[in-house]
Amino acid sequence: MELRTLPTADLTPAGRRELRALLDDAFAGDEHFSDEDWGHALGGVHVLARRDGELVGHAAVVGRQLLAGDRTLRTGYVEAVAVAAHARRQGIAGAVMAEVERLVRGGFELGALAASEDGAALYDARGWTRWTGPLRCLTPDGVVDGDDSWVYVLPVEPVDATGVLVCDWRRGSLW
Ligand SMILES: CC(C)(COP(=O)(O)OP(=O)(O)OC[C@H]1O[C@@H](n2cnc3c(N)ncnc32)[C@H](O)[C@@H]1OP(=O)(O)O)[C@@H](O)C(=O)NCCC(=O)NCCS
Repeated sequence: MELRTLPTADLTPAGRRELRALLDDAFAGDEHFSDEDWGHALGGVHVLARRDGELVGHAAVVGRQLLAGDRTLRTGYVEAVAVAAHARRQGIAGAVMAEVERLVRGGFELGALAASEDGAALYDARGWTRWTGPLRCLTPDGVVDGDDSWVYVLPVEPVDATGVLVCDWRRGSLW
């Protein structure tokens, strides 16, 4: 398997289409990969896994600001973690996440993501911390309560995962 890390600007038009197809297929079950989800995965860095030339795995790291207590943390937010259905449970997401964790530790104060059920098992296995404190969001109308997302963090510096965590505003799902 070959791993590549590259910014969105270096994805070719064909590469973008190939990635979107992988994500549409991977989230085809009870979830749905929307245009807004796609937008959330762009603008940062992509980790792409290929096997025999075929794109089989992906994760993106995009910059967000999260507030934990009175601290504003430069956060590497992980989006669009996916492995092709036929290639699962062979360690591909683990290899992609190892590179994601390197990017987070080297460039950010916190790693964070919202997990699906499959994803939660992966992040638990990799030692990410489930955020058990209240989730809130900064919106144009002020701070609102967050949804019931399962948020996981990778602390680069110590952080209290039982306190309040506030995310910045964006279109679509806030977490
Ligand atoms: C979640 C997903 C990316 C995992 O990809 P993967 O390549 O199968 O994961 P790995 O093989 O690297 O798994 C590493 C470890 O994570 C855990 N794990 C991963 N998927 C799991 C699952 N479905 N159930 C239980 N444990 C799981 C296991 O501990 C696994 O080690 P093991 O196989 O030796 O037991 C993949 O199932 C997927 O694309 N799902 C659909 C999209 C999605 O939900 N993405 C996550 C968004 S947050």
